[in-house]
Amino acid sequence: MTQKTTEQTISVQQAIESRHSIRKFVQQPIDRQDLQKIFELVRLSPSAWNLQPWRFHVVTDVNLKEKLEEAAYGQKQVTSAPAVIVVTSDMEDVLANLRDTVHPGLSEEQKEKEVANLSAFFNGMSVEERGQWGLTQTNIAFGFLMTAVQGYGYASNPMLGFDQDKVKELLKLPEHVKFAGILPIGKPDGEGYPHHRFDFNKIVTFH
Ligand SMILES: Cc1cc2nc3c(=O)[nH]c(=O)nc-3n(C[C@H](O)[C@H](O)[C@H](O)COP(=O)(O)O)c2cc1C
Repeated sequence: MTQKTTEQTISVQQAIESRHSIRKFVQQPIDRQDLQKIFELVRLSPSAWNLQPWRFHVVTDVNLKEKLEEAAYGQKQVTSAPAVIVVTSDMEDVLANLRDTVHPGLSEEQKEKEVANLSAFFNGMSVEERGQWGLTQTNIAFGFLMTAVQGYGYASNPMLGFDQDKVKELLKLPEHVKFAGILPIGKPDGEGYPHHRFDFNKIVTFH
């Protein structure tokens, strides 16, 4: 099998180590092709049953960013960033299109069985419960997104400090949608804070 090579600017280790929350950005638009490449990577994030509930809204419109900033309690990084990625999770869309998530290699019979199993599983949950379930998957993609953004030479600041109802209204999102967060991105103007993390031994136990 031929190995597909992916253009890579820095290593995964460098991307993770160099990522700090950046709240001030250089005033220059983000290359559309870079955004394309970033999302091609994020698309590869894993999810249970491969359901891929993540959806990304890229906001570059100045007026809309101003309104988003207001919804984010005036946090200035929102308008400082040339683009703000709003990361949502939409399990109702997943459920309405379950056939799209089933692997194309399966037989028709297997596909139907899988769709029926998934429908039964999620229909046994409330919209809220399966919304929360979807969010656990979308958070994985949010992590991949931050790393991919860093890998392509941009900086970011993950944010959950915003009024979710207001952001739903601004982006005309349905009520059931959940947020993994919003991510202002751009070339960094300045440095973030040094990493401050728990010791290895506090968070890792070998059994
Ligand atoms: C889910 C999430 C939500 C966050 N919300 C905000 C936010 O609303 N505003 C903000 O300035 N930083 C926010 N942060 C950034 C954290 O404060 C930051 O990631 C943490 O202090 C570690 O710093 P570092 O990102 O520079 O490594 C958030 C981070 C995460 C992961």
